[in-house]
Amino acid sequence: MTTLVLGGAGYIGSHMVKRLLEKGETPVVVDNLVTGHRAAVDPQAKFYEGDLADQDFIRNVFRENPDIDVVIHFGAYSLVPESMKKPLKYFDNNVAGLIKLLEVMKEVGVNKLVFSSSAATYGIPDKMPIKETDPQNPINPYGESKLMMEKIMHWADEAYGMKFVALRYFNVAGAWPDGSIGEDHIPETHLMPIILQVAQGKRDKLQIYGDDYNTPDGTNIRDYVHPIDLADAHILAADYLRNGNPSDAFNLGSSTGFSNLEMLKAAREVTGKEIPAEIAGRRGGDPDTLIAAFDKARRVLGWNPQYDDVHKLIETAWKWHSSHPEGYEDK
Ligand code: UFG
Repeated sequence: MTTLVLGGAGYIGSHMVKRLLEKGETPVVVDNLVTGHRAAVDPQAKFYEGDLADQDFIRNVFRENPDIDVVIHFGAYSLVPESMKKPLKYFDNNVAGLIKLLEVMKEVGVNKLVFSSSAATYGIPDKMPIKETDPQNPINPYGESKLMMEKIMHWADEAYGMKFVALRYFNVAGAWPDGSIGEDHIPETHLMPIILQVAQGKRDKLQIYGDDYNTPDGTNIRDYVHPIDLADAHILAADYLRNGNPSDAFNLGSSTGFSNLEMLKAAREVTGKEIPAEIAGRRGGDPDTLIAAFDKARRVLGWNPQYDDVHKLIETAWKWHSSHPEGYEDK
């Protein structure tokens, strides 16, 4: 019984790999290092550099590791603003990449996949918190690509019995508590690392994209979840599939929303830094509010997230940023 982690050198994937090792499993890790970092992968894991859409390469990974029974897939592009400008890049890597992967999984007889879906599949929901059964009408190509991935998985299950768990993450922030691994995107577009880069003096100020949304302070509201809690949900989802349960989708969030201004305030409290900020124009593709109902993950998977306090979560991110001011320094 071995887990194959695709995209294991990325932000969430690297936390997954460390968490599996902590639980006594040695995962096989694949990453093409386009956005991931070799230094983020714990040296105890078995690492292969290559692309999940390269079928000969993936076939060989399965051949060399016949114990792989579950694939956990983090190998998708995930930036909403980039997807608005480059939709084909997203449909190619996320959607076509999944099809190539499934073809090989089917061929080698591995029929369990846990993959990262997203709150972005819901678009602009008409009520909060969002339930898994609510309508999915994405408003950006990234969310659309994740919804397509869910639908492809559904039909692959119907036709070939390929079982899946789609984990719909809300907004991920935080780092491994000792600061050894964390978030390092180039370019960085996410709110939390940008706030902390301003705190470090690497940027002059934070631009808050819009204060005229339909929320109490006018800035977008998001639901933040820690990558270790996400990793634990993947481990539970893999066990759920190993136990013969049916394919399903689960929200992963905290059921608590923080506005962009509230996140800025919390980061000022945690870091003790001033963090200059200004209001700028709206960015395309941002829904007003995204808050998860995650009781299904608690009830069915037994998920029990530890980072229920946004200050604790920011503290871990600050530890990473202050100990790695230039990130992994490999790009
Ligand atoms: N924001 C700013 N200034 C910045 C960066 C971000 O105001 O410099 C705002 C955004 O406009 C948005 C909020 O901060 O209102 C959060 O933006 P992020 O880019 O950090 O995250 P997104 O909500 O766009 O998207 C993230 C993930 C997606 C996922 C989504 C689900 O990147 O993969 O959360 O909620 F789908």
